[in-house]
Amino acid sequence: MTRIASRVSQLNGEGALAVYSCAKELERQGRSIIHLELGEPDFHPAAPVVDAIRNAVAAGRDRYCSTRGVPALREAIAEYLKRTRRLDVATEQVLIAPGCKMALSLAMMALIEPGDEVLYPDPGFPIYPSFTRGLGAAAVPFGLEEKNKFQPDIEEIARKITARTSMIIFNSPNNPTGTVFSNSALENLAKLAVKHDLWILSDEIYARILFTGEYKSIWSLPVMAERTVIIDGFSKSFAMTGWRLGYAVAPTQVIDAMDLLVLNTFTCTAEFTQVAAIEALRDSTNAVDTMVAEYRKRRDQFIAGLARIPGFRCQAPDGAFYAWVNIEETGLSAEELQKVLLEEAGVAGIAGAAFGPGGKNYLRFSLVSARNLLEEALERMQRVSTQWRATVSQ
Ligand SMILES: Cc1ncc(COP(=O)(O)O)c(C=O)c1O
Repeated sequence: MTRIASRVSQLNGEGALAVYSCAKELERQGRSIIHLELGEPDFHPAAPVVDAIRNAVAAGRDRYCSTRGVPALREAIAEYLKRTRRLDVATEQVLIAPGCKMALSLAMMALIEPGDEVLYPDPGFPIYPSFTRGLGAAAVPFGLEEKNKFQPDIEEIARKITARTSMIIFNSPNNPTGTVFSNSALENLAKLAVKHDLWILSDEIYARILFTGEYKSIWSLPVMAERTVIIDGFSKSFAMTGWRLGYAVAPTQVIDAMDLLVLNTFTCTAEFTQVAAIEALRDSTNAVDTMVAEYRKRRDQFIAGLARIPGFRCQAPDGAFYAWVNIEETGLSAEELQKVLLEEAGVAGIAGAAFGPGGKNYLRFSLVSARNLLEEALERMQRVSTQWRATVSQ
Protein backbone atom coordinates (compact mmCIF):
# COMPACT_ATOMS: atom_id res chain seq x y z
CA MET A 1 0.00 0.00 0.00
CA THR A 2 1.34 3.47 -0.83
CA ARG A 3 1.35 5.79 2.17
CA ILE A 4 2.93 8.91 3.60
CA ALA A 5 5.37 8.30 6.47
CA SER A 6 3.74 8.90 9.85
CA ARG A 7 6.33 11.50 10.89
CA VAL A 8 4.75 13.97 8.48
CA SER A 9 1.47 13.85 10.42
CA GLN A 10 3.41 15.14 13.44
CA LEU A 11 4.36 18.39 11.72
CA ASN A 12 2.40 21.63 11.76
CA GLY A 13 2.36 24.58 9.38
CA GLU A 14 3.00 28.26 10.11
CA GLY A 15 0.01 30.52 10.92
CA ALA A 16 1.59 33.54 9.26
CA LEU A 17 1.56 31.89 5.85
CA ALA A 18 -2.16 31.00 6.16
CA VAL A 19 -3.11 34.62 6.97
CA TYR A 20 -0.86 35.81 4.15
CA SER A 21 -2.76 33.76 1.57
CA CYS A 22 -6.17 35.08 2.83
CA ALA A 23 -4.79 38.63 2.68
CA LYS A 24 -3.49 38.06 -0.86
CA GLU A 25 -6.90 36.77 -1.94
CA LEU A 26 -8.59 39.93 -0.55
CA GLU A 27 -6.05 42.05 -2.45
CA ARG A 28 -6.86 40.13 -5.61
CA GLN A 29 -10.47 41.17 -5.07
CA GLY A 30 -9.34 44.82 -5.03
CA ARG A 31 -9.10 45.40 -1.24
CA SER A 32 -6.30 47.46 0.29
CA ILE A 33 -4.34 45.40 2.82
CA ILE A 34 -1.51 46.50 5.10
CA HIS A 35 0.68 43.43 5.58
CA LEU A 36 1.87 43.01 9.14
CA GLU A 37 1.67 39.23 9.21
CA LEU A 38 4.97 37.90 7.83
CA GLY A 39 8.36 38.31 9.50
CA GLU A 40 9.88 39.59 6.28
CA PRO A 41 11.75 42.92 6.36
CA ASP A 42 10.72 45.48 3.74
CA PHE A 43 14.42 46.30 3.35
CA HIS A 44 16.65 44.69 0.72
CA PRO A 45 20.34 43.83 0.97
CA ALA A 46 22.79 46.74 0.69
CA ALA A 47 24.04 47.65 -2.81
CA PRO A 48 27.58 46.20 -2.33
CA VAL A 49 26.03 42.84 -1.41
CA VAL A 50 23.93 42.83 -4.58
CA ASP A 51 27.05 43.74 -6.60
CA ALA A 52 28.95 40.96 -4.88
CA ILE A 53 26.44 38.25 -5.87
CA ARG A 54 26.42 39.51 -9.46
CA ASN A 55 30.22 39.42 -9.57
CA ALA A 56 30.34 35.99 -7.94
CA VAL A 57 28.04 34.50 -10.60
CA ALA A 58 30.00 36.25 -13.38
CA ALA A 59 33.23 34.84 -11.93
CA GLY A 60 31.87 31.30 -12.16
CA ARG A 61 31.28 30.79 -8.44
CA ASP A 62 28.31 28.60 -9.26
CA ARG A 63 29.76 25.12 -8.74
CA TYR A 64 29.27 22.46 -6.12
CA CYS A 65 31.30 23.57 -3.14
CA SER A 66 32.28 22.43 0.34
CA THR A 67 29.46 20.68 2.24
CA ARG A 68 30.26 22.75 5.34
CA GLY A 69 30.33 26.00 3.44
CA VAL A 70 32.94 28.16 1.75
CA PRO A 71 35.94 28.45 4.14
CA ALA A 72 36.22 32.24 3.64
CA LEU A 73 32.60 32.71 4.77
CA ARG A 74 33.03 30.42 7.76
CA GLU A 75 36.10 32.42 8.77
CA ALA A 76 34.23 35.69 8.25
CA ILE A 77 31.39 34.43 10.48
CA ALA A 78 33.81 33.50 13.28
CA GLU A 79 35.35 37.00 13.02
CA TYR A 80 31.89 38.66 12.87
CA LEU A 81 30.73 36.84 16.02
CA LYS A 82 33.88 38.02 17.81
CA ARG A 83 33.27 41.61 16.69
CA THR A 84 29.53 41.81 17.33
CA ARG A 85 28.94 39.26 20.13
CA ARG A 86 32.43 38.86 21.69
CA LEU A 87 32.31 35.11 21.01
CA ASP A 88 35.33 32.88 20.63
CA VAL A 89 34.42 30.58 17.78
CA ALA A 90 36.77 28.57 15.56
CA THR A 91 36.15 28.31 11.82
CA GLU A 92 35.77 24.51 12.28
CA GLN A 93 32.79 25.21 14.54
CA VAL A 94 30.75 26.90 11.77
CA LEU A 95 28.54 25.19 9.19
CA ILE A 96 26.61 27.01 6.46
CA ALA A 97 23.07 25.98 5.48
CA PRO A 98 20.39 27.29 3.12
CA GLY A 99 18.50 29.31 5.77
CA CYS A 100 18.29 29.29 9.55
CA LYS A 101 15.46 26.79 9.42
CA MET A 102 17.70 24.30 7.64
CA ALA A 103 20.53 24.92 10.14
CA LEU A 104 17.98 24.40 12.92
CA SER A 105 16.62 21.17 11.50
CA LEU A 106 20.11 19.76 10.81
CA ALA A 107 21.10 20.45 14.42
CA MET A 108 17.90 18.86 15.69
CA MET A 109 18.37 15.80 13.44
CA ALA A 110 21.94 15.47 14.70
CA LEU A 111 21.10 15.71 18.40
CA ILE A 112 17.54 14.52 19.14
CA GLU A 113 16.70 10.81 19.56
CA PRO A 114 13.17 9.37 19.27
CA GLY A 115 11.69 9.30 22.78
CA ASP A 116 13.69 12.32 23.99
CA GLU A 117 11.96 15.29 25.57
CA VAL A 118 12.78 18.75 24.27
CA LEU A 119 11.85 21.95 26.10
CA TYR A 120 10.79 24.90 23.96
CA PRO A 121 9.27 28.37 24.54
CA ASP A 122 5.50 28.97 24.43
CA PRO A 123 4.83 31.33 22.73
CA GLY A 124 7.67 30.71 20.29
CA PHE A 125 8.63 29.86 16.73
CA PRO A 126 6.18 27.08 15.75
CA ILE A 127 8.80 24.97 14.01
CA TYR A 128 10.53 24.02 17.31
CA PRO A 129 7.73 21.74 18.59
CA SER A 130 6.73 20.68 15.09
CA PHE A 131 10.15 19.38 14.06
CA THR A 132 10.75 17.89 17.51
CA ARG A 133 7.62 15.77 17.10
CA GLY A 134 8.64 14.93 13.54
CA LEU A 135 11.81 13.38 14.96
CA GLY A 136 9.74 11.16 17.25
CA ALA A 137 10.54 13.16 20.39
CA ALA A 138 8.15 14.85 22.82
CA ALA A 139 7.93 18.65 22.70
CA VAL A 140 7.51 20.10 26.20
CA PRO A 141 6.54 23.79 26.39
CA PHE A 142 7.78 26.28 28.97
CA GLY A 143 5.83 29.53 29.34
CA LEU A 144 6.94 33.06 28.52
CA GLU A 145 4.29 34.97 30.42
CA GLU A 146 3.41 38.64 30.51
CA LYS A 147 3.42 38.63 34.33
CA ASN A 148 7.14 37.70 34.12
CA LYS A 149 7.78 40.29 31.38
CA PHE A 150 7.93 37.26 29.03
CA GLN A 151 11.15 36.03 30.69
CA PRO A 152 11.41 32.25 31.23
CA ASP A 153 10.36 30.92 34.63
CA ILE A 154 13.46 28.90 35.61
CA GLU A 155 11.62 26.96 38.32
CA GLU A 156 9.01 25.84 35.81
CA ILE A 157 11.76 24.67 33.44
CA ALA A 158 13.59 22.86 36.27
CA ARG A 159 10.33 21.11 37.21
CA LYS A 160 9.79 19.97 33.63
CA ILE A 161 13.24 18.39 33.19
CA THR A 162 13.12 14.58 33.37
CA ALA A 163 15.62 11.80 32.73
CA ARG A 164 14.50 11.89 29.07
CA THR A 165 15.10 15.60 28.53
CA SER A 166 17.94 16.12 26.07
CA MET A 167 17.65 19.72 24.90
CA ILE A 168 16.36 23.19 25.72
CA ILE A 169 15.56 25.37 22.72
CA PHE A 170 15.13 29.10 23.04
CA ASN A 171 15.19 32.21 20.94
CA SER A 172 16.41 35.57 22.23
CA PRO A 173 15.23 38.10 21.16
CA ASN A 174 12.11 35.99 21.02
CA ASN A 175 9.68 35.73 18.15
CA PRO A 176 6.86 36.69 18.85
CA THR A 177 7.29 38.52 22.19
CA GLY A 178 10.47 40.50 21.44
CA THR A 179 11.90 39.49 24.84
CA VAL A 180 15.67 39.52 25.27
CA PHE A 181 16.51 36.88 27.87
CA SER A 182 18.09 38.48 30.94
CA ASN A 183 21.65 37.61 31.98
CA SER A 184 20.30 35.81 35.04
CA ALA A 185 17.90 33.77 32.86
CA LEU A 186 20.85 32.75 30.64
CA GLU A 187 23.00 31.88 33.65
CA ASN A 188 20.23 29.79 35.21
CA LEU A 189 19.51 28.00 31.94
CA ALA A 190 23.24 27.26 31.65
CA LYS A 191 23.28 25.83 35.19
CA LEU A 192 20.35 23.55 34.39
CA ALA A 193 22.02 22.42 31.16
CA VAL A 194 25.23 21.50 32.99
CA LYS A 195 23.44 19.86 35.92
CA HIS A 196 21.25 17.67 33.69
CA ASP A 197 23.73 17.27 30.80
CA LEU A 198 21.49 18.94 28.21
CA TRP A 199 22.08 20.53 24.82
CA ILE A 200 21.15 24.18 24.43
CA LEU A 201 19.85 25.26 21.05
CA SER A 202 20.10 29.04 21.00
CA ASP A 203 18.31 30.60 18.02
CA GLU A 204 20.00 34.00 17.69
CA ILE A 205 18.47 35.05 14.38
CA TYR A 206 17.36 38.41 15.88
CA ALA A 207 20.56 39.09 17.86
CA ARG A 208 21.44 42.19 15.82
CA ILE A 209 17.94 43.67 16.05
CA LEU A 210 18.32 44.88 19.60
CA PHE A 211 16.99 48.11 21.13
CA THR A 212 18.79 48.05 24.47
CA GLY A 213 22.24 46.96 25.66
CA GLU A 214 24.70 44.56 24.12
CA TYR A 215 23.78 41.05 23.00
CA LYS A 216 24.84 38.24 25.30
CA SER A 217 24.95 34.70 23.95
CA ILE A 218 24.71 31.70 26.27
CA TRP A 219 27.71 30.30 24.30
CA SER A 220 29.97 32.83 26.10
CA LEU A 221 29.16 31.49 29.60
CA PRO A 222 31.72 29.14 31.21
CA VAL A 223 31.73 25.60 29.70
CA MET A 224 28.65 26.37 27.59
CA ALA A 225 30.54 26.29 24.26
CA GLU A 226 30.71 22.50 24.79
CA ARG A 227 26.94 22.04 24.81
CA THR A 228 25.48 24.95 22.84
CA VAL A 229 24.42 25.18 19.22
CA ILE A 230 23.88 28.73 17.93
CA ILE A 231 21.56 29.20 14.97
CA ASP A 232 21.83 32.45 13.05
CA GLY A 233 21.78 33.70 9.49
CA PHE A 234 21.23 36.48 7.02
CA SER A 235 17.42 36.58 6.63
CA LYS A 236 16.58 39.20 9.25
CA SER A 237 19.77 41.09 10.19
CA PHE A 238 20.79 41.59 6.57
CA ALA A 239 17.29 41.55 5.01
CA MET A 240 18.21 38.52 2.87
CA THR A 241 15.15 36.28 3.44
CA GLY A 242 14.93 34.86 -0.07
CA TRP A 243 18.65 34.17 -0.35
CA ARG A 244 18.24 31.21 1.99
CA LEU A 245 21.40 31.57 3.99
CA GLY A 246 21.92 30.58 7.60
CA TYR A 247 24.52 28.91 9.77
CA ALA A 248 25.09 26.88 12.90
CA VAL A 249 27.90 27.31 15.40
CA ALA A 250 28.53 24.20 17.48
CA PRO A 251 31.20 21.92 18.97
CA THR A 252 33.13 20.25 16.13
CA GLN A 253 31.64 16.78 16.71
CA VAL A 254 28.18 18.30 16.15
CA ILE A 255 29.39 20.12 13.03
CA ASP A 256 30.82 16.79 11.73
CA ALA A 257 27.44 15.11 12.27
CA MET A 258 25.57 17.96 10.58
CA ASP A 259 28.07 17.85 7.71
CA LEU A 260 27.18 14.21 7.05
CA LEU A 261 23.50 15.17 7.02
CA VAL A 262 24.27 17.92 4.48
CA LEU A 263 26.10 15.41 2.29
CA ASN A 264 23.11 13.07 2.44
CA THR A 265 20.56 15.75 1.57
CA PHE A 266 21.30 19.03 -0.24
CA THR A 267 25.10 18.59 -0.80
CA CYS A 268 25.98 22.27 -0.30
CA THR A 269 24.60 25.79 -0.03
CA ALA A 270 24.81 27.86 -3.24
CA GLU A 271 28.35 29.16 -3.58
CA PHE A 272 27.56 32.61 -5.03
CA THR A 273 25.23 33.51 -2.13
CA GLN A 274 27.97 32.53 0.31
CA VAL A 275 30.58 34.67 -1.46
CA ALA A 276 28.22 37.68 -1.39
CA ALA A 277 27.40 37.05 2.28
CA ILE A 278 31.02 37.89 3.16
CA GLU A 279 30.28 41.38 1.83
CA ALA A 280 27.10 41.53 3.96
CA LEU A 281 29.13 40.74 7.09
CA ARG A 282 31.63 43.46 6.16
CA ASP A 283 28.66 45.88 6.14
CA SER A 284 30.63 48.69 4.51
CA THR A 285 27.54 50.95 4.29
CA ASN A 286 26.45 50.43 7.91
CA ALA A 287 23.21 48.94 6.62
CA VAL A 288 22.46 46.99 9.82
CA ASP A 289 22.62 50.01 12.13
CA THR A 290 20.50 52.06 9.73
CA MET A 291 17.88 49.31 9.57
CA VAL A 292 17.82 48.81 13.35
CA ALA A 293 17.44 52.59 13.88
CA GLU A 294 14.39 52.50 11.60
CA TYR A 295 12.93 49.48 13.46
CA ARG A 296 13.35 51.42 16.70
CA LYS A 297 11.35 54.35 15.30
CA ARG A 298 8.65 51.98 14.05
CA ARG A 299 8.51 50.24 17.42
CA ASP A 300 8.15 53.51 19.32
CA GLN A 301 5.50 54.84 16.97
CA PHE A 302 3.47 51.61 16.81
CA ILE A 303 3.56 50.85 20.54
CA ALA A 304 2.45 54.43 21.34
CA GLY A 305 -0.35 54.12 18.77
CA LEU A 306 -1.56 50.76 20.09
CA ALA A 307 -2.07 52.31 23.52
CA ARG A 308 -4.83 54.46 21.98
CA ILE A 309 -6.80 51.41 20.82
CA PRO A 310 -9.36 50.28 23.42
CA GLY A 311 -8.58 46.86 24.89
CA PHE A 312 -5.08 46.58 23.38
CA ARG A 313 -2.04 46.32 25.67
CA CYS A 314 1.55 45.90 24.50
CA GLN A 315 4.95 45.98 26.21
CA ALA A 316 7.66 47.57 24.10
CA PRO A 317 9.84 44.74 22.73
CA ASP A 318 13.58 44.90 23.51
CA GLY A 319 14.50 43.21 20.26
CA ALA A 320 13.26 41.70 16.95
CA PHE A 321 10.55 43.53 14.99
CA TYR A 322 7.24 42.32 16.37
CA ALA A 323 4.51 43.86 18.51
CA TRP A 324 2.89 41.24 20.77
CA VAL A 325 -0.44 42.66 21.78
CA ASN A 326 -2.68 41.42 24.60
CA ILE A 327 -6.29 41.72 23.38
CA GLU A 328 -8.07 40.00 26.27
CA GLU A 329 -9.97 43.13 27.31
CA THR A 330 -11.66 43.50 23.92
CA GLY A 331 -13.93 40.57 24.85
CA LEU A 332 -13.24 39.06 21.41
CA SER A 333 -11.06 36.06 20.75
CA ALA A 334 -7.76 36.65 18.95
CA GLU A 335 -9.12 34.65 15.98
CA GLU A 336 -12.25 36.87 15.80
CA LEU A 337 -10.08 39.98 15.97
CA GLN A 338 -7.67 38.68 13.33
CA LYS A 339 -10.70 38.25 11.02
CA VAL A 340 -12.27 41.65 11.79
CA LEU A 341 -8.95 43.43 11.35
CA LEU A 342 -8.23 41.69 8.07
CA GLU A 343 -11.68 41.81 6.51
CA GLU A 344 -13.00 45.11 7.82
CA ALA A 345 -9.86 47.18 8.48
CA GLY A 346 -7.56 45.64 5.85
CA VAL A 347 -4.82 45.04 8.45
CA ALA A 348 -3.18 41.61 8.43
CA GLY A 349 -1.89 40.44 11.82
CA ILE A 350 -1.74 36.94 13.32
CA ALA A 351 -3.74 35.40 16.18
CA GLY A 352 -1.18 34.44 18.83
CA ALA A 353 -2.19 30.76 19.11
CA ALA A 354 -0.09 30.27 15.94
CA PHE A 355 2.88 30.53 18.35
CA GLY A 356 1.52 28.08 20.93
CA PRO A 357 -1.31 27.94 23.50
CA GLY A 358 0.41 30.70 25.52
CA GLY A 359 -0.44 33.07 22.66
CA LYS A 360 -4.21 32.57 23.01
CA ASN A 361 -5.01 36.16 24.04
CA TYR A 362 -2.53 37.92 21.77
CA LEU A 363 -2.09 39.22 18.25
CA ARG A 364 1.29 39.58 16.57
CA PHE A 365 2.04 42.44 14.20
CA SER A 366 5.36 42.56 12.30
CA LEU A 367 6.85 46.04 12.05
CA VAL A 368 8.02 45.36 8.52
CA SER A 369 6.09 48.12 6.77
CA ALA A 370 7.05 51.79 6.47
CA ARG A 371 5.98 54.21 9.22
CA ASN A 372 3.26 55.85 7.12
CA LEU A 373 1.69 52.41 6.58
CA LEU A 374 1.97 51.59 10.29
CA GLU A 375 0.18 54.88 11.07
CA GLU A 376 -2.52 54.04 8.54
CA ALA A 377 -2.87 50.55 10.11
CA LEU A 378 -3.32 52.15 13.56
CA GLU A 379 -5.99 54.51 12.21
CA ARG A 380 -7.85 51.67 10.53
CA MET A 381 -7.76 49.56 13.70
CA GLN A 382 -8.96 52.52 15.78
CA ARG A 383 -11.88 52.95 13.38
CA VAL A 384 -13.11 49.33 13.67
CA SER A 385 -12.52 49.29 17.43
CA THR A 386 -16.03 50.81 17.85
CA GLN A 387 -17.17 47.18 17.57
CA TRP A 388 -15.60 46.25 20.92
CA ARG A 389 -15.06 49.63 22.63
CA ALA A 390 -18.25 49.23 24.74
CA THR A 391 -16.99 45.92 26.15
CA VAL A 392 -13.73 47.45 27.28
CA SER A 393 -15.21 50.42 29.13
CA GLN A 394 -17.71 48.24 31.09
C1 LIG B 1 12.91 32.48 15.50
C2 LIG B 1 13.14 32.17 14.06
N1 LIG B 1 14.02 31.21 13.72
C3 LIG B 1 14.23 30.87 12.45
C4 LIG B 1 13.55 31.51 11.42
C5 LIG B 1 13.80 31.07 10.01
O1 LIG B 1 14.82 31.77 9.38
P1 LIG B 1 15.22 31.53 7.85
O2 LIG B 1 14.27 32.31 7.01
O3 LIG B 1 16.62 32.03 7.73
O4 LIG B 1 15.12 30.06 7.58
C6 LIG B 1 12.63 32.52 11.71
C7 LIG B 1 11.87 33.17 10.65
O5 LIG B 1 10.87 33.82 10.84
C8 LIG B 1 12.42 32.86 13.08
O6 LIG B 1 11.54 33.81 13.44
